Amino acid sequence: MKRFLLGGRVPKKPNIRRIVFKEFGLLAPKKVPFKEKTTQELHRFLRPYEEAKYPTRMAGDKTKLPIEFQRHGWGITPEAIANLLKNKRLARLVATDPVIREEFTRALRDAIVERGILAYEEEWAGLKGEDIKKRVVGRAMPQKIGKKVVKPTPYLANKFNSQLALPEIRKGIAKLKKGQHYVILDIGCGAGGTILPIVEKLSPKERSRLKLLLVDIMEAGLKEVRKELKRLGLKDDQIITVRENIATMLRNPKIKEFMGKVNFVTSGAAIHHTPDVTPIFSAVYKLLAKGGTFCFWDWGHAAWRAERLLVAPKGAIVDPTGRYWSRGIHEKEAPKEHAFISREATKAVTVGWAPTELQGVKIMLQTWISLLGYGKEEQARFAKWFDTQVKKGAPINFLEYLKKLEKKKPEYETPFLFWEGHKPPELYVEALRRSGFLSEKGLPYVRYSTQSPLLYQIKVKK
Ligand SMILES: C[S@@+](CC[C@H](N)C(=O)[O-])C[C@H]1O[C@@H](n2cnc3c(N)ncnc32)[C@H](O)[C@@H]1O
Repeated sequence: MKRFLLGGRVPKKPNIRRIVFKEFGLLAPKKVPFKEKTTQELHRFLRPYEEAKYPTRMAGDKTKLPIEFQRHGWGITPEAIANLLKNKRLARLVATDPVIREEFTRALRDAIVERGILAYEEEWAGLKGEDIKKRVVGRAMPQKIGKKVVKPTPYLANKFNSQLALPEIRKGIAKLKKGQHYVILDIGCGAGGTILPIVEKLSPKERSRLKLLLVDIMEAGLKEVRKELKRLGLKDDQIITVRENIATMLRNPKIKEFMGKVNFVTSGAAIHHTPDVTPIFSAVYKLLAKGGTFCFWDWGHAAWRAERLLVAPKGAIVDPTGRYWSRGIHEKEAPKEHAFISREATKAVTVGWAPTELQGVKIMLQTWISLLGYGKEEQARFAKWFDTQVKKGAPINFLEYLKKLEKKKPEYETPFLFWEGHKPPELYVEALRRSGFLSEKGLPYVRYSTQSPLLYQIKVKK
């Protein structure tokens, strides 16, 4: 009857989510190893530089970019959309039906985030022995270079984080009743760079009252941190290590058990390892006991807002995605595939000095020249090129610069991939607000914690 009334068979509505997720290689069963899940076609737009020469090859995977930056010609969206819309029926529906268009946009965003979550897992899960030393432990410890002892900035940031955390942890331990433990969660604990400086400073008696929940995707790091904590006198049953992706922490029953029971959450250089931090912050909020504290540091700057960066005029305010600047009644939109960075102080900093976005971008890109194995001379050459581009008002395109560097041999080749999900603090503050940590007007403690314009500390209470 229904069929008769409508004058023929109604074509079944396509499953938009399924189509989009399939394009991203996300429909294979979970048990299938990640590498086998992806297809050549996928890699073509997710890692367009995989086949390029060193150092351009180290551009990595575009799904790792913060979701806030995955728009307007940057990230993987344009190519993914083009690929999907080769499906004529889907293209017609997206063009003519607003409900389908909405569904398509949402599915695309979710697929990018899901794919980015896997990309980080793929990068870190398999690290072993030497790699861990190179990428996590060795890099963050003081090193003797000639007669000088050099303290890397991540080491200093972990030290600052522990200084900020300790008074509150000590107070919390002192208030415990008999038989109770003080629960600390470390997100992306690695081999212990963040948690160890905290535990080391506690007395043996205080240490005996701890319960540590340590989450990381790297098995070898979890083993290492347990060993170190036992050396500091902790017992096995005080250390709960969980191998889990931090982006989906609450899917793990071992972590879920701690909902509302964690006293203190910390993290160092790990939260950016997902394209969307809001679900992490929401999980932390649920895990914390009332009055509990979230105290972490991370890398951040505006350098990955787009492939081509333009410097906004003096006095102009740039929006968090770099799409616009405004100054008084003037406003300007960035051209396609470009984003603005500001000459003014980085927003959302509430304590102490704040670098300008321009400073942060320059230092970050110069640091990458160094991380990619090029020496002081090459770094200086890059800095000069950067300043000239700024002076001319020309776009800063790091990838293009690296293509020119291909002709020059680095001092050594590194395994470091750039385009990580680093973002300026204002985006973290927005995510904290969305997760329930902050009221509309509330401000957390945000401070650049070392001499570097790249590492900042955040502290907020539930
Ligand atoms: C730069 S290290 C920092 C480790 C430690 N906090 C420190 O400061 O030494 C980043 C850590 O995050 C972990 N990681 C990266 N992506 C992750 C993910 N999606 N889920 C869980 N852990 C992740 C890595 O395995 C690594 O141990």
